[in-house]
Amino acid sequence: MISRKKLIAGNWKMNKTSADAVALVSDLVAAIGKQNDVEVVVCPPFTALEAVGKGLEGSTVKLGAQNMHPDASGAFTGEIAPPMLRAIFATHVILGHSERRSYFAESDEFINQKVLSALKNQLRPILCVGETLAEREGGSTLKVVQTQTERGLEGVSKEQAAGIVIAYEPVWAIGTGKVATTEQAQEVHAFIRGLLTKLFTEAVAQKVRILYGGSMKPANAAELLAQKDIDGGLIGGASLEARSFADLVNAAIAAK
Ligand code: 13P
Repeated sequence: MISRKKLIAGNWKMNKTSADAVALVSDLVAAIGKQNDVEVVVCPPFTALEAVGKGLEGSTVKLGAQNMHPDASGAFTGEIAPPMLRAIFATHVILGHSERRSYFAESDEFINQKVLSALKNQLRPILCVGETLAEREGGSTLKVVQTQTERGLEGVSKEQAAGIVIAYEPVWAIGTGKVATTEQAQEVHAFIRGLLTKLFTEAVAQKVRILYGGSMKPANAAELLAQKDIDGGLIGGASLEARSFADLVNAAIAAK
């Protein structure tokens, strides 16, 4: 079996001024900026991306955006294009986060356009999927995750697929303190890997990192990261402080 490098990504959401973000990243780099056992990505808000990128120079920590528009340029007031992210050395981009899906009405089709555009622009997409509480209680978790994954990856080639990252984020676990049980998370992760096998090949599916997201913290990370198909975490709240984020990275190093 292929061993996948674990990935810990911090999604800072709409938090931190540029100055606050630079201070956080400086503490983070001091704590975990040289290790290479685990891939680490920070995703600050747009206004802090460039300054944080400078703060990451000389470290192994990578820069990601939280969203982007699929087009390369044009009349899209308020939007950010992939080449703009590339120009400031971003390597990753979170796409289809549940907050974008629910508050900004992003459809699977639009998210798919972004995924294809990110790949075309050499940005690594972190495609988020996950069910709401009502969907889980209604028994449709796997169906929802299947639809979001299949539609999000439409038109992605086998060659491109291995480089994609998927984040399983049950909506009911985001920012609520209610973490999925290891069994609940592992079940969906294994299901996603099975889908990737059907969509692409077994070899591709074995290469794709599938992250868990939703109230992941140093206290619950080790157990989640020990699961066969959980290859890392997409962290919200606990990525906003250097100490807890570094502890999560250390938990991933210990689980590798
Ligand atoms: P929390 O870790 O704050 O629950 O957020 C998870 C998330 O949405 C990461 O993208």
